[in-house]
Amino acid sequence: MRSPSPWPAIRGIAYGGDYTPEQWARETWDEDVALMREAGVDLVSVGIFAWALIEVEEGVFDFAWLDELLDLLHRNGIRVDLGTPTASPPAWFFARHPDARVVSRDGVVQGFGARGMASHSSPAYREAIVRIASALAERYADHPAVVLWHVHNEYGVPVGEDYSAQSAEAFRGWLRERHGSLDALNAAWGTAFWGQRYTDWEHVGVPAAAPSVVNPAQRLDFARFTDHQLRECFRAERDAIRRFASQPITTNFMANQAWVADLWAWGREVDVVSDDHYLWSADPEGEIGLAIAADLSRSVGGGKPWILMEHSTSAVNWQPRNVAKRPGEMARNSLAHLARGADAILFFQWRASRSGAEKFHSAMVPHAGTTSRVWREVVDLGAKLDRLDELQGTVVEADVAVLWDFESFWAQDLEWRPSDDLSHADRIRAFYERLWRDGITVDFALPGHDLSKYRLVVAPAQYLLRAADAANLTRYVEQGGTLVVSYFSGIVDEHDAVHAGGFGAPLAAALGVRVEEFLPLREGVRTSVAWRGDDTAPLAADAVFTADVWHEAIALEGAEVVARHLDGPGAGLPAVTRHAYGEGVGWYVATRLDAEGLRTVMDDVYADAGIAPTGHPDGLEVVTRRGDAADYVVAINHRDEPARLAASGLELLTGTEVVDAFDVAAGGVAVVRTTREPRGGGR
Ligand code: GAL
Repeated sequence: MRSPSPWPAIRGIAYGGDYTPEQWARETWDEDVALMREAGVDLVSVGIFAWALIEVEEGVFDFAWLDELLDLLHRNGIRVDLGTPTASPPAWFFARHPDARVVSRDGVVQGFGARGMASHSSPAYREAIVRIASALAERYADHPAVVLWHVHNEYGVPVGEDYSAQSAEAFRGWLRERHGSLDALNAAWGTAFWGQRYTDWEHVGVPAAAPSVVNPAQRLDFARFTDHQLRECFRAERDAIRRFASQPITTNFMANQAWVADLWAWGREVDVVSDDHYLWSADPEGEIGLAIAADLSRSVGGGKPWILMEHSTSAVNWQPRNVAKRPGEMARNSLAHLARGADAILFFQWRASRSGAEKFHSAMVPHAGTTSRVWREVVDLGAKLDRLDELQGTVVEADVAVLWDFESFWAQDLEWRPSDDLSHADRIRAFYERLWRDGITVDFALPGHDLSKYRLVVAPAQYLLRAADAANLTRYVEQGGTLVVSYFSGIVDEHDAVHAGGFGAPLAAALGVRVEEFLPLREGVRTSVAWRGDDTAPLAADAVFTADVWHEAIALEGAEVVARHLDGPGAGLPAVTRHAYGEGVGWYVATRLDAEGLRTVMDDVYADAGIAPTGHPDGLEVVTRRGDAADYVVAINHRDEPARLAASGLELLTGTEVVDAFDVAAGGVAVVRTTREPRGGGR
C-alpha cells in the first residue's frame, strides 16, 4: 500500500517553507538556520523570485550568494527545493524585450514592478527561461542539499491568458495543428453564426475584448491554448534541468483556487505533484475547500503522495478581510492535508518580509519574532510531524469519484449562459460538502477515466461532455455503477456546440430522462420540492425541501420520479429522478436543492451504491491513510470541545496506547495507527 517516495533523500514527512534570505542581511541567515533546526525544518524552497539576483544582466550570473546559502543549509542538515525564478523576470529583461510584455484582454500592456511571467509565447522569454534553468541545474545538480527542483511559481497566476501579437501568432499555429484546415476551424467554431466565417488564417485572432460576446468555441480553444503554452514553458525548463540533474522536478499547482491549468495534463508532466492552498477567510468552513484541494492534488497525481508546497501559518494579505488563524488551526490545516495524502508540509513563507507587497502576510517567523504564539505553534508542529514520519508513502483510498473537468469549467463559465447562477464551483462544493459531511473520502476523476473501481460517481458540473466520455459513463452504469448527475450536464460537445438530440442527450440512456427546456429562476426565488410525493399521496412535512436557481422541463424516458416541484416554473415536473439501467442506477438532480434535500437524495444514492456513510462521529473529520501493515486514522476535531474517536492502536502524537476510544482535544488532531483490516470496498 506504500508508494515509493518521490524524494528519497528525505525520510519521513518533510517540513519547511519558502525561504527568501536574499531579503535579509547575512547575519540573519545564521539565525534562520538555528531557528529552522529548533522548529524541525528540513526542507526549504529557495530562489523562486530571485532571477534579478542570480542573472544580474543578460547572460551574466552571480552564484556567490546562492553557493553560500546552499552550503550553509547543507551544513545544517536542511534540504533544498531549488526554484527556477521564471515567474518574475528582471527589469533588464523587459527593458531589452519590450515585446515580451503580456497584454490583457482589453488590450492593456502590463507594466513592470509586480511579478508575473512574460508572454508565454515570447521567443525571448522562452530562450531566457531555458538559459536560467540550465545555468542553475548545471551548477547545482550535484549539490548535496538539493533534493527537489521547483520550476516557476503557480503557472497561470497572475499571468495566464496573453493577448499580445506573439500570442496571436502562436495561437494561429496551435489552431492549424488542432483543426488541420480553415474549413475544420469554421465548422468547429460554428462561424456561420453572426457571419464570422474565416477565409484566411491571418484573419484568425485571439478572443480579445469585442463589442459583444465573442465566439465561445474560440474562447474555449484559447483557454486550451493558454494551458498548452504554459505547459510548454514548464516542459522547456524541466527538460533543461533534466539535462544536468536527476532530482525530482515539480511545479506548484493551485488546485481548487485557479482553473487556468488543466491539472490532469500537468499531473502527468511533474515527477511529484505539489500544491499551494490558502483558506478563504470569508468561508467559515474553510476546511471543506481545503479537503477539496487536497483530494484534487492527490487525484491529479494518480493517488501518489504529494507535497503541500505552500499554506499560511496565520492570515494571508490579499483577501478583502484577512482573518488570522485561531490557536491550533494551523496544525489542524497542516494535518488535514497530510490526512489526504500530503507527505510534505511547507509554508509561504519562512520569515515575514519587511518590505514589498506581502509584508502583512503571516510567516513561520512572524514580525513579532520567536516570543509569539505563531512561532510556538510552528515549533510544536515540527515536533508533531516528526512523530508521523512512518506515514510517509502511505496512501488514501476512495470508493467515490467526483468528476472534475477543467475544460468543462472553462466552457461553462463563459458569458451568456442560461443563468449567472450556474456556477460549476458551486455545484462541486455542494456535492463534495455533502460527501464530506457524510464522512466519505472521495477521489476526483475525469469522465473518460476508468471508473470501475468506484461504487459511486458524482457529476456535479459536467456541462461539456464529449460523446466518448458520455459513453464511458453510460457503460459505468450499465456495468453496475451508481451515477449521480446534476443539472446543466451533458449540454455541449468539445466545441461548445449543443449535442445533437438536445440537452443531456448523450446521458439520456443512463439517466432515463431528456431535458426539453431550461426553466431558470429569478434571483432569490425559492420554490418547494416534494420528496417521493405525487398528486394523491399526502406528504410528510419533512419531505418538502426548498430549491432555487434552476428548474427544467424533463421528459421521462424510463426513469422514475423521486421528487417533484410543487411550485415555480416547473410545478408538477420532476426535480429528481432515478433510473435502473443495466446493472446500475443513474440519478438525475434537476434543481438546486437545499442541504436537507441533497442529503435526502444522497442517502438513497448511498443505498443504491452500497455505501454506509459514517458522518463525522462526535464531530470528527476522519480520514484514513493506508500502509502495508497498518492503517493510520487521522481524526480532526474542528470543534471547541473534546470529541471521542472510536479506535484501537497507538496514538502517534501523544504516544498513547488506545483501547477502544481516544479523546481528541478541542480543536486538536489524533493519528492512530491501527491494525490493518481487510477492506470491503470496490464493486
Ligand atoms: C502564493 C504564491 C506565494 C505568495 C503566497 C501568498 O500564491 O505562490 O509566492 O505570494 O501566494 O499567499
